[in-house]
Amino acid sequence: MKYFSYKNLRNKNELFVENVAISEIAKQVGTPFYCYSRLTLFENYHSFVEAFEVHKILDYKICYAIKANYNFHLVKILAGLGAGIDAVSAGEIHRAIKAGIDPKKIVFAGVGKTREDLIFALQNGVEEFSVESVEEMFLLNEVATNLHKIAKFSLRVNPDVDAKTHHKISTGRKGDKFGIDIDLVEEIYALASKLPALEIYGISMHIGSQITSLEPFEIAFEKLRKLCQNLIKKGFKIKNLDFGGGVGIDYNSDKTINLKEYVSLIKKTIQDLNVKVTIAPGRAIVGSAGLLITKTIYLKETPRKNFVIIDGAINDLMRPGLYGSYHEVLPVEKKEGFKNNFDFAGPVCETTDILAVNREIVIPNANDLFAFCSAGAYGSSMSNEYNCRPLVPEVLVDDNKFEIIRRRPTFAEMLHLEIS
Ligand SMILES: Cc1ncc(COP(=O)(O)O)c(C=O)c1O
Repeated sequence: MKYFSYKNLRNKNELFVENVAISEIAKQVGTPFYCYSRLTLFENYHSFVEAFEVHKILDYKICYAIKANYNFHLVKILAGLGAGIDAVSAGEIHRAIKAGIDPKKIVFAGVGKTREDLIFALQNGVEEFSVESVEEMFLLNEVATNLHKIAKFSLRVNPDVDAKTHHKISTGRKGDKFGIDIDLVEEIYALASKLPALEIYGISMHIGSQITSLEPFEIAFEKLRKLCQNLIKKGFKIKNLDFGGGVGIDYNSDKTINLKEYVSLIKKTIQDLNVKVTIAPGRAIVGSAGLLITKTIYLKETPRKNFVIIDGAINDLMRPGLYGSYHEVLPVEKKEGFKNNFDFAGPVCETTDILAVNREIVIPNANDLFAFCSAGAYGSSMSNEYNCRPLVPEVLVDDNKFEIIRRRPTFAEMLHLEIS
């Protein structure tokens, strides 16, 4: 929250992003909207770079998991910093390349790539694939053969490790749909070595998201190391280990992972293996860089609960409704006064449209603004038009300036694809 702080503006205690007052943005853009801090994005990316530098790991690639937030302008900033991309759809690849990402730095991951997706990727210069099933491996070979290309690939292993995060974002347990059972990997690489259009490149892994302790990584990386040693011993040329993403962020005073310790674990894993490193963080890069700004419509008191009815809703920020996740809520203008407990509820016709529960706040008035913190990851990227609500605009703050990096669509634009 370094670049989100209260400052005095016209004798009011107002929340700023970098050096811009949120209330000023709201006047011009309307609410709700997402607001990002460029400096936070920059520093989050650089914390990973620094951790690799501290540990003197030179051959590494940070492939930002674009699913966390695919806004073109944010991806463009990351492209400028040298990032690669972990993509899971042709649309993400298209966007990343348009934003200036070198296709050679794109890893095409995901559990259900279609023939058309694979053709699109190969035709657009993507060379590296994380493969999640034997069937996909054969299809990739077929597609690459037809296009006279060689596809470098890593099998995504399922190490059967519980990431000890929310069960809906845990991906590395036996029974999860992701990856290939670690015990079958050797056999599948043996099959792959006979396929002419495939080059065995490495092994990949991603055990889940919002992981706040090193322990699950430690267990999974040790399994990855043993697997890699065994494959090298059997003569397979393993050149790269992709450790995936998953590093958690501080949503609610969570104790999170120290990146230098995380990279130290990577260093320990690759010692004497002579492999390059890929990581694919999403949340840890954009999560803390974004706020969702909403406006109070009404206060609603019921015999059991008090609600602040706001103009932001589950379609704008799905995480609380989907995973019961927590976002700190800050008043955009800090006032003195009587406090009470409120749930923050959106206008959408779903009981789960509650963005925050039981928060003790100074009793607000209509039109008061609230900021939902750490909403930069899986916020706008998971938003939708449910209840015919327009996708919310996105704003990027850079020091004392801001620009709209996605504008609010008009109702006519929302209809356009259906009637034109
Ligand atoms: C394959 C893969 N890599 C990376 C990520 C990014 O995870 P996070 O945003 O938790 O870093 C995901 C998220 O689902 C993923 O599925």
